[in-house]
Amino acid sequence: MAEAQKTIRLIVTRQDGPNAKPYQEEFELPYRPNMNIISALMEIQRNPVNAKGERTTPVVWESNCLEEVCGACSMVINGKPRQACTALVDKLQQPIRMEPMRTFPVIRDLIVDRSRMFEALKKVKAWIPIDGTYDLGPGPRMPESRRQWAYELSRCMTCGVCLEACPNVNDRSSFIGPFAISQVRLFNAHPTGEMNKEERLEALMTDGGIEGCGNSQNCVQSCPKGIPLTTSIAAMNLETTKYLFKKWLFS
Ligand code: SF4
Ligand code: FES
Repeated sequence: MAEAQKTIRLIVTRQDGPNAKPYQEEFELPYRPNMNIISALMEIQRNPVNAKGERTTPVVWESNCLEEVCGACSMVINGKPRQACTALVDKLQQPIRMEPMRTFPVIRDLIVDRSRMFEALKKVKAWIPIDGTYDLGPGPRMPESRRQWAYELSRCMTCGVCLEACPNVNDRSSFIGPFAISQVRLFNAHPTGEMNKEERLEALMTDGGIEGCGNSQNCVQSCPKGIPLTTSIAAMNLETTKYLFKKWLFS
């Protein structure tokens, strides 16, 4: 169908700066087979003329890997938060509507500030503290069954889609979001990471932690990597309860 039109229509929600008023601008581009949203944006960048034929500023966006690994190109496309690099024009209904993810502060056009995600990872200590000043030798081995599900969790690309989908993540809440809870499960499952398990559980029990989850289950349906977020949240709920009980017992 798109081939018959020989053009594609895009409606982009634009914003000139963090405090500027959003507005919509329409673009009509020559159709090429196998275009994705990034190539459409590159076409606008090359020739920034809107559908009325007026010269405009190029639309700005963020991208890096172009293969759904870095998470940088997340935006809302036809109402669905997803990665622009894997959004194929041929598979999208036209006009294609593109908006920034509103859960995050907009920097400009389709670029948002995902700092709250990186702050959440810092809060829950989503890393393994090892001394890198000398050769520690090979790391401890992991049972294959655990390695397999841990690998699934490690595919999180901090894309922000699960936060955009979650009704409990907004500018009135400090909820760290499902991805960060899942990362605690990942690092606590690692034989070395396990040594700092309790610090991470403590962090999950503070304000904005696991209690912020309202069990809407939108996250697990929206994650482009198919990460079992609700299973991670249930597992961490159990772990924090056990940890609390242990603390109470030995206090
Ligand atoms: S858990 Fe999934 S949706 Fe959430 S940030 Fe990670 S990859 Fe994106
Ligand atoms: S550019 Fe990396 S996920 Fe799209």
